[in-house]
Amino acid sequence: MRMLPDSPVADRRLRSGPVGIGIVGAGNISGEYLENLTRFPDTTVVAIGDLLPDVARSRAVEHGIGRAGDVTAVLDSDDVEIVVNLTVPTAHADVARAAIAAGKHVWNEKPLTTDRVSAKQLLEAADDAGVRVAGAPDTFLGSALQAARRAVDSGVIGSPLSAVATMTSPGPDAWHPNPAFFFQPGAGPLFDMGPYYLTALVQLLGPIASVAAAGSIARPTRVVGSGPEAGSTFPVATPSHVAALLRFAGGQSAQAVFSFDAPQFRYALEVGGTDGALILPDPNLFAGEICIRRPGGSAAETLATTTVGSTRGTGVLDLARAIREGRPHRADGRLAYHVLDVMASTLQAAESSSVVMVESRVERAEPLPDDWDPDASTL
Ligand SMILES: NC(=O)c1ccc[n+]([C@@H]2O[C@H](COP(=O)([O-])OP(=O)(O)OC[C@H]3O[C@@H](n4cnc5c(N)ncnc54)[C@H](O)[C@@H]3O)[C@@H](O)[C@H]2O)c1
Repeated sequence: MRMLPDSPVADRRLRSGPVGIGIVGAGNISGEYLENLTRFPDTTVVAIGDLLPDVARSRAVEHGIGRAGDVTAVLDSDDVEIVVNLTVPTAHADVARAAIAAGKHVWNEKPLTTDRVSAKQLLEAADDAGVRVAGAPDTFLGSALQAARRAVDSGVIGSPLSAVATMTSPGPDAWHPNPAFFFQPGAGPLFDMGPYYLTALVQLLGPIASVAAAGSIARPTRVVGSGPEAGSTFPVATPSHVAALLRFAGGQSAQAVFSFDAPQFRYALEVGGTDGALILPDPNLFAGEICIRRPGGSAAETLATTTVGSTRGTGVLDLARAIREGRPHRADGRLAYHVLDVMASTLQAAESSSVVMVESRVERAEPLPDDWDPDASTL
């Protein structure tokens, strides 16, 4: 895969001041993005679009956005520099491709796309167009995972050896008003929640080199639990429980379980080393308590308690500042691609009952600087 050019064409446009953002996809998660991206001094949301233009219009009214309608309301706007693609996973590739063709940088919600081929094509199209691709999750830029990164890098647990990641829940069909997409290829607990855990692991331990796995579907249909469609059923077309054994390029290993078939909620991430184990908060959150357990069985001690500086949108803000500053952005499309590659390899391993080698490699992103302040006006 080719590298991004140092100075993408779009970066060279004579622009200054806050970076213009256009949102595509005005559904559930857009509210959290809009709260932050309209608040940060370095970003300004100028347009919002959706397949359902009225949905986009009502979001625009809620958040004081000047332009709203279908996707062209965003793509045809000259003042949109970054398209923030918050559509359902099966639409990520098409919407991002259209944004790149319109000369925009792209932020995709997770997963980057639903398959390796379309994701690779996206990164290549962006290289050719001289624009950037970035992708969720940005929770690894939150205060908790940044503190964990610093702790691991500074040797607090000695040499890192292993990790355990556990994400189990009954599934989002109980609370999400349109949950069918969570159970289609490109989603499921692996592709929907896996990105948080796998991105955190890659940032802490480096790239993943191989995977073995098992997967299953407990129920072939599920029931919508809330909203106007409550009570209707939909099919499950991807494993709703996945257990994986990951081997890192650095030699460490991790066990990971991603399940929408469990009665209990469990969101756990631990990284063990020669001198101790870090117990981290839910990597789908931006802040929380980090504990350390030392060898010898003593009680866990609190290493750090971090508070939320900002939530979803941090990665878009870093992308915006990176564009103006001419430096690499942290939630790079190549990181999102590696995580997608690991997830696709995991499904392949589960289907074939074999170990699958992960082809892609990625460098860990630079930690955020100590004085990172999302509420500062820097551009
Ligand atoms: N809901 C959450 O808690 C959550 C959290 C983090 C990330 N995400 C991710 O955010 C994305 C969206 O999730 P959501 O929960 O907001 O979904 P949603 O179904 O509530 O909203 C998706 C929106 O995208 C629109 N859309 C679909 N295809 C489109 C297309 N081709 N062009 C334009 N608009 C299109 C739909 O009309 C809808 O309004 C997914 O990738 C999901 O993985 C969701």
